[in-house]
Amino acid sequence: MIIEPKISVIGTGYVGLIVGVCLAKKQKIICADIDTKKIEALKNGVVPIFEPGTKELIKENKKNLFFTSDIIQAIKDSNIIFVAVNTPSSYDGSADITAIEEVSKTIGQNLNENKIICIKSTVPINTHKKVENIINSFNSNYTVDIVSIPEFLREGTAIEDFINPDRVIIGTKNLNSFNILKNIYLSSINCDKIIWTDNAAAETIKYVSNSFLALKVSFINEIANFCDAMNVDVFSVSQGVGLDKRIGQQFLKPGPGFGGSCFPKDVQALIKMSDDIGINLEIIKSAVKTNELQKDQVIKKLIELVGNLQNKKIAILGLAFKSNTDDIRKSPAIDVIKKLQNFGALIKAYDPKAMENMQKEIPQLQCCPNAYKAVENVDAILILTDWNDFKELNFVKISKIVNQKIILDTRNILDIQTLKQLEFRVDTIGRSCIAKNKLDDNNFEKLKKQDSFIL
Ligand code: UGA
Repeated sequence: MIIEPKISVIGTGYVGLIVGVCLAKKQKIICADIDTKKIEALKNGVVPIFEPGTKELIKENKKNLFFTSDIIQAIKDSNIIFVAVNTPSSYDGSADITAIEEVSKTIGQNLNENKIICIKSTVPINTHKKVENIINSFNSNYTVDIVSIPEFLREGTAIEDFINPDRVIIGTKNLNSFNILKNIYLSSINCDKIIWTDNAAAETIKYVSNSFLALKVSFINEIANFCDAMNVDVFSVSQGVGLDKRIGQQFLKPGPGFGGSCFPKDVQALIKMSDDIGINLEIIKSAVKTNELQKDQVIKKLIELVGNLQNKKIAILGLAFKSNTDDIRKSPAIDVIKKLQNFGALIKAYDPKAMENMQKEIPQLQCCPNAYKAVENVDAILILTDWNDFKELNFVKISKIVNQKIILDTRNILDIQTLKQLEFRVDTIGRSCIAKNKLDDNNFEKLKKQDSFIL
């Protein structure tokens, strides 16, 4: 029975760090990671990832935060251990839980009191049993209760998402552990939906949530392509459809395809798990296929605008898989750049935060110090990430320094009318009807801007 919680978080990646830093508002938290460089940086207030608000929160909760690379000591000094280590994709699409197994061994070898082990990482269904078996194989005198407590925060809005979640899922068969975790969470977050499930359901909820959201993105991408062919504005459609509460407005923004460290990996892992037991998740497989095809759609649209891409200079604005992050894992920009290079295009790129990471992935990529340098003398501008910075660019200036006034805005973040007034040839994903209209034909757009869209 745990009377006074002593908490550690193992793994200081995008999830572990945010969990530790946010929970430190009300209690002491040990954040542990085997990466000594990362820990040294964190001790000095340097955050190794770009996640808005994290640096400030570390400062604010400083007195409750302890960073260490001594995992064994962190285990010994805590009775509630959050495990938030990486579970990357294996070669066959399954989630690689090596890091989870390693941490479980270390916990088993160093059990010095009864503990609650909270699995935060996204793990295949029934991983909690593996963790329990590994820990128990060391025949300690102490017991552990494994709690599966998936995380739903998004990169870029991680702190806000952690503190104000739609729900918290606590998967355990032990009511005492549920109550302890519930109280820990309620001390630091705002949420009136704390859901108690068993471990396997909690593990499954995480995969199903991400897969459903990925499905939603692929769905709207297909609809956007349909809208373009039918001369219909996808914004009107997604708003009209999304206002139905059963459907919802979120995750209906078309773009160059979903990326990141979660959707692609988790969708593949769910497909692999189901294939292994002979269940065919056809819809989810289609969402993956649609996502791949969406990058071809970007290239197709660019060719429509520019013609033959051989030796054409293209400026890519946005390399991160989405705005407000430096993360380029499975970013659509990676595939699009490679495809453009295969067509012989000459690429210059700019991203406010993700250039360093992208240059590790594509070393020969020419990155520029700012957006204006990137667009200088190019034949087309291709927007791939929805950074606010790009909305604020001076397109009058840009119109004078490009070689050809062509923009493909795959995220629909720019004002089409302004660009058209500057005589840019514009296209988007899902709003071609507006982008390709003559200026005078867009009266409806002007009226909508003046008046409230929804009465
Ligand atoms: C996702 C989930 O949204 C989180 O709930 C989850 O906790 C996280 O994965 C995880 O498993 O750790 P994240 O990968 O940070 O979060 O990014 P999202 O904001 O979900 O976006 C994923 C991808 O979909 C991005 O490439 C984004 O640009 C794209 N997207 C999203 C769209 O193209 N359109 C949309 O309307 C929404």
